Amino acid sequence: MENTNLGGNVDPILTGLLKPKSIAIIGASSNPDKIGYTVVKNLNESGYEGGIYPVNPKDPEILGHKAYPSVKDIPYVVDAAVITVPAKVVLPVIKECGEKGVKGAIIITSGFAEVGDHATEDALVATAKQYGMRILGPNIIGTLSNSDKMNASFAGFLPYDGKATMVSQSGALLIALDAASYSRGVGFDKMISIGNMSDVNFADLITYLTDDPHTSCISLYVEGLKNGPRFMEAARKCTKPIVALKSGVSAHGAAAAASHTGSLAGSSKIYEAAFKQAGISQATDLNDLFDRTLAFSLQPPMRGDNLLVITNGGGVGVLATDAAERAGIPLRFAPEDVQQELKKHMPEFGSAKNPVDITGQGGHEWYYASTKFAYAHPWVDGLTVLYCETAVTEPMDIAQAIHKAIVDSGVTGKPVSVSFVGGERSDKAMRWIVEQGIPCYNAPDLAVKALGALREEARIEENRQSGTYNPENVDGQKAREIIAAARAKGRTALTEVEAKQVFAAYDLPVTATELATSEDEAVRMANSIGYPIVMKIVSPDILHKSDAGAVKVNIKDEQGVREAYKVIMDNSLAYKADAFIDGIAIQEMAPWATEVIVGSVNDSTFGPTVMFGLGGIFVEVLKDVTFSVAPINLAEAEAMQDDIKSAPILRGVRGESPRDRKALAKVLANYAYMIYDLKDEVAESDANPVIVYEEGKGVKVVDARIILTKK
Ligand code: ACO
Repeated sequence: MENTNLGGNVDPILTGLLKPKSIAIIGASSNPDKIGYTVVKNLNESGYEGGIYPVNPKDPEILGHKAYPSVKDIPYVVDAAVITVPAKVVLPVIKECGEKGVKGAIIITSGFAEVGDHATEDALVATAKQYGMRILGPNIIGTLSNSDKMNASFAGFLPYDGKATMVSQSGALLIALDAASYSRGVGFDKMISIGNMSDVNFADLITYLTDDPHTSCISLYVEGLKNGPRFMEAARKCTKPIVALKSGVSAHGAAAAASHTGSLAGSSKIYEAAFKQAGISQATDLNDLFDRTLAFSLQPPMRGDNLLVITNGGGVGVLATDAAERAGIPLRFAPEDVQQELKKHMPEFGSAKNPVDITGQGGHEWYYASTKFAYAHPWVDGLTVLYCETAVTEPMDIAQAIHKAIVDSGVTGKPVSVSFVGGERSDKAMRWIVEQGIPCYNAPDLAVKALGALREEARIEENRQSGTYNPENVDGQKAREIIAAARAKGRTALTEVEAKQVFAAYDLPVTATELATSEDEAVRMANSIGYPIVMKIVSPDILHKSDAGAVKVNIKDEQGVREAYKVIMDNSLAYKADAFIDGIAIQEMAPWATEVIVGSVNDSTFGPTVMFGLGGIFVEVLKDVTFSVAPINLAEAEAMQDDIKSAPILRGVRGESPRDRKALAKVLANYAYMIYDLKDEVAESDANPVIVYEEGKGVKVVDARIILTKK
């Protein structure tokens, strides 16, 4: 049932830090009020079997261990040093650790970047680097590991034992979750406090834990990342489920997180997109983080959509049905043969549809028989068993029957979850069933939601196969030349004509556009593009072209071109007499269809990010847009189209034919490739509007804008 990966490419330095054979506690103390005392006491009490070497300037012995005045005086190899001295002496201590050959420092001490002292924190990292040493923290509670019997922290005890590993940016929260792991029955092998992430960060730990045989699921509490793309890469390569709770999603919360950890909390929508792309399951709150962790650490992914629910109560059955729909695995009626068999294990008035209601009369025999049959049946991709406490049943009997049925079925690799609703007797049974490796919740919707998360995990596995996208017909060199020419003229905004040339260099289907500098040239160009055409002023001094009366549409012939040329020139000069005018753009007039917008931003955490939405009111009023961190593949580009609320419009509603989603996916993927390739050059860009025609008829980028980075 467990999801364990026994890998082997583990970084020996990180191993020294996280799985040390010996630990020095620098700032160890005999004073029970000191953190340096608690860490030594915790190592003793957790049964740590490696060397424990307290370091203290005056005490010769601390809590039964010989103490040394300096780490350099320890006559043995020291893998890790837990540092609990005040901030002002941490830097010289790190230097001594380096000289001693310590592999990693676990710096509990606060008072660095999180209070604005970036300089000392940077110096710590630079010093550690000189000696090839890694730093966990500073500003952390330390690290805890059941499999290593190691509580190298000032949290009171090792977490409830299990297969998940929690990495948290907040130390205080980790102490609380350590305690909560017992009351919730959610088991962890390790809990790692990551604090300011001056050196070791989430990406390092995800990579390390991917190969840790004691970790089957990684749980993250994230306030802000420093290097989004590295984080995404590590998560994408991780073959174990990752669940993350990102705090600081509200504007006020983001400010609180920033001051808390000294890192920047990026925009929540972009975080959401990045986590999704990296295959990270997103928890909505702490309870959800625990609920998902429980499911992921105990059960395999759900590899099909058929969820069967067995219940002894109609009410919880209905709640489960609603939850299934919300979780993206709506219940379907089981096939007739399944129903016929299940009917044998319920009274006349029960229901063998889905949910399968064995009624309040359902005792442990019926639970056993229906669970065993359903779990083994190939139609069932995932099973949820619900129980409402009744006076005529004993919850522990039911729990044991469910567990025995699962074991006796002989089936593995299929997820099951359970919910017990009731009082103390149910709580006891619930804890017992979790101890047997079956996630159990105190509400039916939570049990179903757990399977929803496992279904999502299977989809993440499938998407992992979809690979990268390498567009054809791309000429990045040409795009750079156009940009360089604009920069040479002192501009950081490209004209529409230039922007379209850059877009075209990335094989984006822009409307044919040429720049005319005389009336005759305009006529020649219009004749070659074909009528009707659009004419627009091209001037760095006139950004709002329509307001200036400098746009004319639907020009049908040569006469019209000549008239428009004069009017646009006159209006432009009347609007701004000293405007510098490059010329007039002569443009193919694309027929109207469904209007979408594609844009980009350079996010401070994740880098170039593409935005997509339907045009007009959908974007302006409803803000119905979605983001993806660039680059993206074609599958992700299609997923973006499904991600917006107005997605049905692209699929075709009320008799309208579906739009060309394939061509639009190519535009999105090529656009993302472009902003990624030109990330040093392009600060912002958009293609607005982009017209999407009927299936098979393509897409046209009607207008293009590029703002360059400042150099
Ligand atoms: N080498 C070895 N030992 C030294 C050295 C040195 N260079 N310098 C001092 N020491 C000893 C001290 O003599 C003392 O031992 P003693 O009790 O025998 O005298 C011990 O180190 C500790 O030094 P103190 O000056 O007593 O410092 P104190 O223990 O009060 O505080 C601490 C140190 C805990 C690191 C504090 O500065 C700190 O940062 N506290 C916050 C830690 C924290 O909360 N981190 C997690 C944040 S996450 C969250 O939110 C929970």
